[in-house]
Amino acid sequence: MSEQDPMVDEFDTVAAWTVAAVEELGADHALPAACRGSGSPAALDWLADAIGVGAGSRLLDSGAGVGGPAAYVARERDAVPVLAEPMTGACWAARQLFDAPVVAADGLALPFPDASFDCAWSLGVLCTVEDKPAHLAELRRAVVPGGGVGLLVYMRTVDVLPTQPEGNHFPDHDELLAAVAAAGLVLVDEARLADLPGAPEDWQAAADAVDATVERAHRDDPRWARAQAQQEEIADLIGRELVVGVLVACRAG
Ligand SMILES: C[S@@+](CC[C@H](N)C(=O)[O-])C[C@H]1O[C@@H](n2cnc3c(N)ncnc32)[C@H](O)[C@@H]1O
Repeated sequence: MSEQDPMVDEFDTVAAWTVAAVEELGADHALPAACRGSGSPAALDWLADAIGVGAGSRLLDSGAGVGGPAAYVARERDAVPVLAEPMTGACWAARQLFDAPVVAADGLALPFPDASFDCAWSLGVLCTVEDKPAHLAELRRAVVPGGGVGLLVYMRTVDVLPTQPEGNHFPDHDELLAAVAAAGLVLVDEARLADLPGAPEDWQAAADAVDATVERAHRDDPRWARAQAQQEEIADLIGRELVVGVLVACRAG
């Protein structure tokens, strides 16, 4: 990735800026601000139920970003998450915000022995990865046989998108199911994000306040502008339902 990569701007630089904004606004803003790919608590609850995240569950979060989803299930379910994330700015932010155990690692080469975790999830990550079966196979390898593997995937609903956000490779439904099967995962259940309740008003307001604070501090910085343009392009595709969010629950075969 180059210095001018919008993925680096969004997932590394802006992720790290989130920390200062949360410090300014208050710690109750950390969780909503740090759920960058997933959005609503209802979606996290659906997936956590479907892959069996409970008290004491050792959960691997691959592509964990700033760590909001992992912190949510640690708080709500007494799960024990470990985060893996390639962008060091996001790793640093997860440590600052949640004191999370996090390793800087690519999802294609996770630094964990086989069967180290009870379950794993990867939220909003698969669409940024070209070799999807390899990313999923690493999740399968890292969990115990039969362990739950959860995904939030942004999926293409048309053959060709009118614009192609840099660094994103949205699969269609057939490609997604083929990647799941190729990785040795068994599909258990799936749900559309749009069919689940959205984030509560106070959650959304906190996330918006953090975004606005980051914008105030950095709007003249070209890295903020590139990240913002990337987010808007993806939001437009989602708004037009050319790309939809889908939750996928699997079992390691
Ligand atoms: C949309 S964000 C989602 C972050 C987090 N999972 C969440 O839901 O808040 C996508 C994340 O995938 C990470 N990512 C990109 N390529 C990756 C790879 N090859 N392996 C693991 N994570 C990757 C990015 O750095 C970013 O943090």
